[in-house]
Amino acid sequence: MTKILVTGGLGFIGSHTVVELVNAGYEPVIVDDLSNSNPKILDQLTKIIGFTPVFYKLDLSDEQAVKNLAAQQPDIAGIIHFAAFKAVGESVQQPLKYYRNNFYSLFNILNAYEGKQINLVFSSSCTVYGQPDSLPVTESAPVKPAESPYGNTKQIAEEVLKDIIAAGSKFKIISLRYFNPVGAHQSALIGELPIGVPQNLVPFITQTAIGKREKITVFGDDYDTPDGSCQRDYIHVVDLAKAHVAAFKLMATDGFTGYDVFNIGTGQPNSVLEIINAFEQSTGVKLNYQIGPRRAGDIEKIWGDVTKSKNKLNWQTELDINTMMQSAWEWEKYIANNPL
Ligand code: UD1
Repeated sequence: MTKILVTGGLGFIGSHTVVELVNAGYEPVIVDDLSNSNPKILDQLTKIIGFTPVFYKLDLSDEQAVKNLAAQQPDIAGIIHFAAFKAVGESVQQPLKYYRNNFYSLFNILNAYEGKQINLVFSSSCTVYGQPDSLPVTESAPVKPAESPYGNTKQIAEEVLKDIIAAGSKFKIISLRYFNPVGAHQSALIGELPIGVPQNLVPFITQTAIGKREKITVFGDDYDTPDGSCQRDYIHVVDLAKAHVAAFKLMATDGFTGYDVFNIGTGQPNSVLEIINAFEQSTGVKLNYQIGPRRAGDIEKIWGDVTKSKNKLNWQTELDINTMMQSAWEWEKYIANNPL
């Protein structure tokens, strides 16, 4: 079986991707420092896939620890590098924390496996586009100056990866630029597990619906969008997880060399108010919400052109907004009854 090292494999996207890797016949090896994830997700994964995947609790910014890992796992064929800090606001407050963690971990992984024929998938983000000049945004749109240190780590990491390919690395590399992943696995055994107050929209919605939060604030209704609230390209996390399998299949072909980048979204915009409405309609649960001021650093609207992903990656989304909302709600109810 083809072994894939999954850094950040107990996180929201990582855990869903582990399931899809197993479904596709790959053998995941998980690395996670548990800084933003829960060790019990390993048990939850076991319930879904029927065995406990190999797991290393390890801080990837520790160079020696990563060298030891590579010595213990010399025969891996692929890496998915999810492990990174991702809170935009926090990155503005603590830039060094973000640059240190997100870069050291990437460099240590690249160094530890240098010289090997490895297919690498890098978790990038639509944040690299800033506010695009035209929508939907294509992969060839110019990258704008980053709005946050977090965004900067994604932009610079993409440059680093391009540079090592240009310098003749034996790696093949695909960066996936995720739009907004939401929802949860259909089993409701894994999902997004924010620590503290959720920063992202859908966990805030589900926590409000279950009564953990009194109300949700819509950050601005005076944007230049059809209903005045911000628009994003929300994608079901299971669809997004499957894009990683598609990336490995593409890299396994002889025709693929070097480096490429793909948008991973539905290609459709939804506003904050539309998401709130979709949640209420698809779950039958009313949300207590209010309109508030804009959030600093938010961009007005972004959604992806996914033509390249459909044609070259041979991948497209299958799950709709209602499935995203229902599955996120099922997961919220599950953890309310079965705290991890
Ligand atoms: C941003 C980044 C994304 C990054 C993610 C990490 C962009 C375009 N997106 O996502 O790349 O991976 O952060 O966290 O830079 N909202 C509310 N009320 C809330 C919470 C959110 O109205 O309580 C609104 C926001 O204003 C935004 C939308 O919901 O319009 C989505 O917000 P969020 O889930 O935080 O994701 P992004 O900011 O789009």
